Amino acid sequence: MLRPDEFDFLAKLLKERSGLVVTSDKGYLLESRLTPVARSRGLAGLSEIVTKLKANDEALARDVTEAMTTNESFFFRDEKPFTQFKEMVLPHIMAARAAKKSIRIWSAACSSGQEAYSLAMLLKEEQARMAGWHIEIVGTDISVEMLDKAKAGLYSQFEVQRGLPITLLVKYFKKKDESWQIDPALRAMVQFKEWNLLRDLKPLGQFDIVFCRNVLIYFDQPTKAKVLEGISKQMPADGMLYLGGAETVLGISDKFKPIPNQRGIYGLTA
Ligand SMILES: C[S@@+](CC[C@H](N)C(=O)[O-])C[C@H]1O[C@@H](n2cnc3c(N)ncnc32)[C@H](O)[C@@H]1O
Repeated sequence: MLRPDEFDFLAKLLKERSGLVVTSDKGYLLESRLTPVARSRGLAGLSEIVTKLKANDEALARDVTEAMTTNESFFFRDEKPFTQFKEMVLPHIMAARAAKKSIRIWSAACSSGQEAYSLAMLLKEEQARMAGWHIEIVGTDISVEMLDKAKAGLYSQFEVQRGLPITLLVKYFKKKDESWQIDPALRAMVQFKEWNLLRDLKPLGQFDIVFCRNVLIYFDQPTKAKVLEGISKQMPADGMLYLGGAETVLGISDKFKPIPNQRGIYGLTA
């Protein structure tokens, strides 16, 4: 069992490193996620982890942070945002970028890549009207393990059964042993990079459309506000931000306002 001071130490470290808020009723989560980290290093348990962290074991601090992230994701998650993207956001942004013919899309907190690849498939399906356009999709996450999986583009049967229409599975994936390998052409449409949303986001450049879904829920209000402010600076005046179904900017940030009649999509305030 963790002592209260050890719990507080871990909670502070996680908050500082990733924004994750662990409240005192979530001690079981620390135990269940960090016991395997302790075992893999031959440590007796969480108290020993804390001792090593206090001695500035940077590699362990990274592993601990990574082990505490929730990485659940699936293709075309919640469906509606992708329909909105195809029917409203894409035509709108194509009209606005008709001269430049270039669009940058960011899947912020992309986990194992399903969101970024869903967008790549959707755009590939629209290629008839996108001839001559330069599309860049960038997926970022704090978890190196998830990014490795995203880069490999290899998904289990269970993962491809969650949200991916069978027509797209057949068209864009090849069976590889027990898994499914994404088409290299789709893989080439997406760049994956390690990036912490708490860091300066400027080096990532500007994005016309940002998907930042199902990550702010793990942060407290000031952290959400800081991340939203950072994202707002990486978007042009007509850029659009997608949040997850349980997330909003309302009461958190005045940098964004909801786009009328488009649930979950936000534009910059003037
Ligand atoms: C629940 S997943 C969401 C994945 C995807 N956006 C979706 O909606 O399906 C949350 C992701 O946020 C990442 N994450 C957590 N804190 C982060 C941070 N400070 N910076 C970047 N990514 C972070 C986690 O590693 C995890 O992969």
